[in-house]
Amino acid sequence: MEYIRLMKYPGSKKALLSDIQASYLKSGRRTFVDVFGGSGSVSLNIESRYTVYNDLNPDLINVFTNIQKRPENIYFLLKEGVKKRRSLLEEEGSWKKRTIDPEVEDFIKIKGRERGIPEKDVESVIFLTGMNLTFGGMGNTYATKKEKAAMSYISKTLDQFDMIKNRVSRWKIENMDFRDLVKKYDDRNVFFYFDPPYSGTDWYEINFDAGDFRELSRLISGLEGKYLMTIDPDAEGIMEIFGIPVHIKEYRNENGPSDGIANPPPRKRAFYTNL
Ligand SMILES: C[S@@+](CC[C@H](N)C(=O)[O-])C[C@H]1O[C@@H](n2cnc3c(N)ncnc32)[C@H](O)[C@@H]1O
Repeated sequence: MEYIRLMKYPGSKKALLSDIQASYLKSGRRTFVDVFGGSGSVSLNIESRYTVYNDLNPDLINVFTNIQKRPENIYFLLKEGVKKRRSLLEEEGSWKKRTIDPEVEDFIKIKGRERGIPEKDVESVIFLTGMNLTFGGMGNTYATKKEKAAMSYISKTLDQFDMIKNRVSRWKIENMDFRDLVKKYDDRNVFFYFDPPYSGTDWYEINFDAGDFRELSRLISGLEGKYLMTIDPDAEGIMEIFGIPVHIKEYRNENGPSDGIANPPPRKRAFYTNL
C-alpha cells in the first residue's frame, strides 16, 4: 500500500505504522482511536473498521474538517498556491524562499474570494502550505536547495488528494483534550493509539508537562479498551512515570540528508500496551 501523507509534522509515524497496525489487529477491537492525531499520518494509513481522529490543535482540526466537508475547495487552492509559488521561483531563478511567502498567501486569498470559497478553507490551505514548506513542520528554515523538495512534497500531496479525501471522509473528527476523549470513547470495542507530544520540546502549538504524563499514565492503567502507546524512552521522566515498557525498538530515522541532517542516529521507541 502506498504511504499517504498530507503534511510535514514532527513525529510522523511512517516507520512505526506496521507495528501499530499489528497491535490494532491483535486487539480484535473495532474502533481505532488516534488520540494525538497530529498530521494524521497514522489515521490516514491505518486499515481499520472505524477511525476516530483527535487533536487539541484547532488548526489541524480545521484542515481535516474542511477536507471532509469541501475537499474540492482545498484541492483547488492548494493547486493554485503551488502554481503561484512555482512561477515566483522561476522569476527569481532560485530556490531561496522558505515558509509561505506573502505573495503566495495573497494569491490563495484572492483565488478563494474569486470563487466564493469560505474563509476557513482558505486559512486551512495557508496553514497546510506553510507546514509543508518548513523543515519537518517545525517552522525551521530550509537550506536553500531544500525548497525544491518542499515543492515536490506539496505536488505529491495533490497527487494523493483523492486517497486523502476518501480516508478523511470516513473519520469521526474530534477536537478534545485526551482526558475527555478517553472518557468519551473508552469501552470494549475500542483500541487507543497514544502518541503524546515529546516532553522538553516546543514543536507543537500545544505541549505537555510532567503532570499531563502522570494523568495519561493513570488513565491508561484503568482502560477498558486496548491500547498502544509509543514514546521516546530517553525523554526525561518517562520510565519513572510509565514504568518499564513491554519492549524498546529501534527504527531508521526518516529525517536524513534530504532534510539537511547527515547520518541521523536511529530512533528508539518504547512500547506500552495492555495487549
Ligand atoms: C507527537 S504529536 C502526534 C503526531 C502524530 N502521531 C502524527 O502522526 O503526526 C502529538 C500531538 O498531540 C497534540 N496534543 C497536545 N496536547 C494535547 C492534549 N492535551 N490532548 C490532545 N492532543 C494534544 C499536539 O497538538 C500534537 O499534534
